[in-house]
Amino acid sequence: MWISFILASLLSTGLVASAPPGFPSSGNGLWFTKPANVWSKEMLPVGNGYLAAMVPGGTSSEATQLNIESLWSGGPFEDPSYNGGNKQPGEQANTSLIMQSIRQNIFSSPTGDIDNVESLTTDAGAYGYLVSGISTTNSTVSGYGRFLDLDQGIARTIWTQDKTAFVRSTFCSHPTQACIQHITTDGGHLPGLSYVFSSALETGFPAPNVTCMGSDSLRIRGLAASRGMLYEIIAHVRATPISGTPTNPPIIRCVQFPVASGAPFNATIEVAGSTVSEAWVSWVGGTEYSMDGGDVAHRFSFRGSDPHTQLLSLITAPATATASFATTLSQHVADYKAALTEKFSLSLGQVSRLDAPTDMIRAAYRTDVGDPYLEWLLFNFGRYLLMSSGRGVMPANLQGKWANGDENPWGADYHSNINIQMNYWSAEMTNLDVHRPLFDYFQKTWAPRGTLTAQVLYNITRGWVVHNEMNIFGHTGMKGGGNTAQWADYPEANAWMMIHVWDHFDYNNDVSWWKAQGWPLIKGVASFHLDKLIPDTHFNDSTLVVNPCNSPEQVPITFGCAHAQQLIWQLFNAVEKGFAASGDTDKGFLAEVQAKRAQMDKGLRIGSWGQLQEWKVDQDSPTDTHRHLSHLIGLFPGYAIANYDPTIQGGLLVNGTHLTYTPAQLTAAATVSLIHRGDGTGPDADSGWEKAWRAAAWAQLGNATQFYHELTYGIFTNFGPNLFSLYDPADANPIFQIDANLAYPSALMNALIQAPDVASLNTPITITLLPALPKQWPAGSIKGARVRGGITLDLQWSGGSPTHASIKVDENVGSRPVRILHMGRVVGTFTTAPGLSQSFTNF
Ligand SMILES: *[C@@H]1O[C@H](CO)[C@@H](O)[C@H](O)[C@H]1NC(C)=O
Ligand SMILES: *[C@@H]1O[C@H](CO)[C@@H](O)[C@H](O)[C@H]1NC(C)=O
Ligand SMILES: *[C@@H]1O[C@H](CO)[C@@H](O)[C@H](O)[C@H]1NC(C)=O
Ligand SMILES: *[C@@H]1O[C@H](CO)[C@@H](O)[C@H](O)[C@H]1NC(C)=O
Ligand SMILES: *[C@@H]1O[C@H](CO)[C@@H](O)[C@H](O)[C@H]1NC(C)=O
Ligand SMILES: *[C@@H]1O[C@H](CO)[C@@H](O)[C@H](O)[C@H]1NC(C)=O
Ligand SMILES: *[C@@H]1O[C@H](CO)[C@@H](O)[C@H](O)[C@H]1NC(C)=O
Ligand SMILES: *[C@@H]1O[C@H](CO)[C@@H](O)[C@H](O)[C@H]1NC(C)=O
Repeated sequence: MWISFILASLLSTGLVASAPPGFPSSGNGLWFTKPANVWSKEMLPVGNGYLAAMVPGGTSSEATQLNIESLWSGGPFEDPSYNGGNKQPGEQANTSLIMQSIRQNIFSSPTGDIDNVESLTTDAGAYGYLVSGISTTNSTVSGYGRFLDLDQGIARTIWTQDKTAFVRSTFCSHPTQACIQHITTDGGHLPGLSYVFSSALETGFPAPNVTCMGSDSLRIRGLAASRGMLYEIIAHVRATPISGTPTNPPIIRCVQFPVASGAPFNATIEVAGSTVSEAWVSWVGGTEYSMDGGDVAHRFSFRGSDPHTQLLSLITAPATATASFATTLSQHVADYKAALTEKFSLSLGQVSRLDAPTDMIRAAYRTDVGDPYLEWLLFNFGRYLLMSSGRGVMPANLQGKWANGDENPWGADYHSNINIQMNYWSAEMTNLDVHRPLFDYFQKTWAPRGTLTAQVLYNITRGWVVHNEMNIFGHTGMKGGGNTAQWADYPEANAWMMIHVWDHFDYNNDVSWWKAQGWPLIKGVASFHLDKLIPDTHFNDSTLVVNPCNSPEQVPITFGCAHAQQLIWQLFNAVEKGFAASGDTDKGFLAEVQAKRAQMDKGLRIGSWGQLQEWKVDQDSPTDTHRHLSHLIGLFPGYAIANYDPTIQGGLLVNGTHLTYTPAQLTAAATVSLIHRGDGTGPDADSGWEKAWRAAAWAQLGNATQFYHELTYGIFTNFGPNLFSLYDPADANPIFQIDANLAYPSALMNALIQAPDVASLNTPITITLLPALPKQWPAGSIKGARVRGGITLDLQWSGGSPTHASIKVDENVGSRPVRILHMGRVVGTFTTAPGLSQSFTNF
């Protein structure tokens, strides 16, 4: 949905030739000379995690598009019989039989494959979508400029009209949970303003009731769908009167529109012309959805309380209701800097460009040639987007929290076979504190219903499971319809996400969090996979494998998929590494994990054309350029390949012979697979995220040229004029997918600093400095990078080589051995200890 803020009178045309006044001199921002028209290519995003908004940068008329993070159609709100896409408990016996025969068919199939697992899937039911509205605006005026200031987290529009210069600023404050839009002029007198709320552009979206709340606030109440969840927005308008302005009639008044009997109520707030020097509207929003209602005790209702009381307390809090605008703004900026820019910063030696708008810089960008300024800007923008969408109650979804219209691509859901993972890749390493909503989401919406799914679908009575496509209503079953197994058959989503849980602990060593949330999550998932691994009766090699499985979004449906085996192996290592800190005394569980880990297939096999096999049966095609790099998960973001250790991962039985690969052999095979997988423009898709993944993987292999090629190719192909990553950039109204935006910083970081996980706490953490530095970034610096083990790392380089590195260890860590490498040479070693700091200058 959207709110429209309307100003009086129209204007003449003109463009600015350099960055608009107020644009950060650091160059850290996006600027444009025309208002936005197309949502995904041109508008500018702001958000505080709870709320998101897209700012078109209109002038006399501005239509700011709003969203609330939990505003979804579908789920139990729309369909009382909604059950998370699960088989009914009464079908358990039958499902077990089906599962048994599927497994048997796969093992006994000569190819190790079968056609489908359709009989395990269920109709998605009222799956739901993140809903919101659209808006367009067309005005151009003299002295026009709009920008997103990434130093302060503010979208601004400036223009001149009737010799008066206007400035409109929009931002969402995390401390107050409100978004604010402020307008002022240099002349000190604003023309008349009116504020209305509209959902008119929302097809199928029921019009809400808009009513006056006092003389200066609009209360907007509606349903997300005809039987959907209740939402409410309160918008409060304030202004600073020009001194001596009489207050009768009132400067600000709320007027209830006359409407036909039975039609939804509608109202407007008006600010009288020439009475105020500045005016601003603050809005807060919420729904009756609650993650806390997603368990058996709440009958999976996900229903919380009416949001009104909570919103009222937010909108009447002094920081929003009585503080001056300057105070509200400075509180926002201080919070923004503390969360985003003070703890971490990067320089690629870029030269700030203030002479050309961002869309022109983007249009001039070329693969391989590159432009360090744009590359740096995209890095900062990616972190900005994660922080602006990741700090609410829900995690960032396929579009962060920005959604256009009442049906968004792929439901703007939580695709959990690469996309959501990728969203969070940069969080720990660039020191962004955004992970907690993600973990709450697993605990509250995945684990409860996923416990039922484990029972009904797999006859497993410990732990829990989910599949690929996840909504906010605990959609844990396999989402069916057509032969969707390649999307739906992904019971390793939980294992992959647990790597994030483990990493959070590994980076921060927050023991009380680990005991309360991290460990129970990992234990639940590991328990499930312990029971799900079964003996391989195709090869009879005494290993344990998954069956059925497929690589994410790719057939065949087979057994022992490399992706799944590598992930589960990493999961079991995390159990062992985290056991002592968990306080858990269940030694039998640990022993079982260790035993099955020893026995399981490790998912590392070199195939007939020198490739790393994607499946246990050697059936990879050299011309398969599929978008996912599933079997290379152990290269990046994992470590089963990157830190391959033949003493614990070797020992394969192949054709009756025991084989152990050397690390060099395994790396060579991963390289062959990566080469054959292509550049991320495949027959199946040409999206940005697959190129970001490839860039990170090439960096992991230490190949700076290929890293830079993929990074720049992704920018060239998939990033729009507003730097949003686009699925189909040539489309007039392309699809926005946030994953490439959010993965970009981690891919770039992987060229500068690498420290992949290790199988055991006794194995040294190896930090490699500048492993894949492209020649386009000869000099630069990083401040505040985070490395697992509770390490903060600063790094400077020049002439393509490190000149200075320093580490500081957190106060709350134990001893971990660490080595620092550059160009294959050990340039430092230390053992972590609380508060340790050390510098390295000998490279
Ligand atoms: C479920 O598993 C248990 C334990 O292995 C087994 O005894 C039972 O028969 C299975 N139930 C079904 C319905 O297959
Ligand atoms: C068991 O599943 C089969 C195959 O899906 C189906 O045809 C049959 O009706 C089911 N039986 C019961 C008792 O649900
Ligand atoms: C904006 O311009 C586009 C293209 O010229 C037009 O289709 C659209 O209706 C205009 N929108 C408004 C709000 O005037
Ligand atoms: C309220 O009225 C305004 C002005 O006519 C209109 O633009 C807006 O769409 C209406 N809002 C709703 C929710 O119907
Ligand atoms: C709007 O208010 C009317 C009258 O109170 C009520 O019947 C209707 O359900 C409300 N509509 C919505 C969408 O809340
Ligand atoms: C593996 O063992 C099963 C019996 O458990 C047998 O049916 C199958 O033929 C064996 N496969 C091979 C390749 O030996
Ligand atoms: C295993 O045996 C098959 C069939 O003889 C052969 O095609 C394959 O290359 C062998 N694999 C290895 C790794 O030797
Ligand atoms: C990087 O990869 C490309 C493509 O495989 C290869 O030609 C080149 O030699 C590699 N460079 C290095 C330094 O390994």
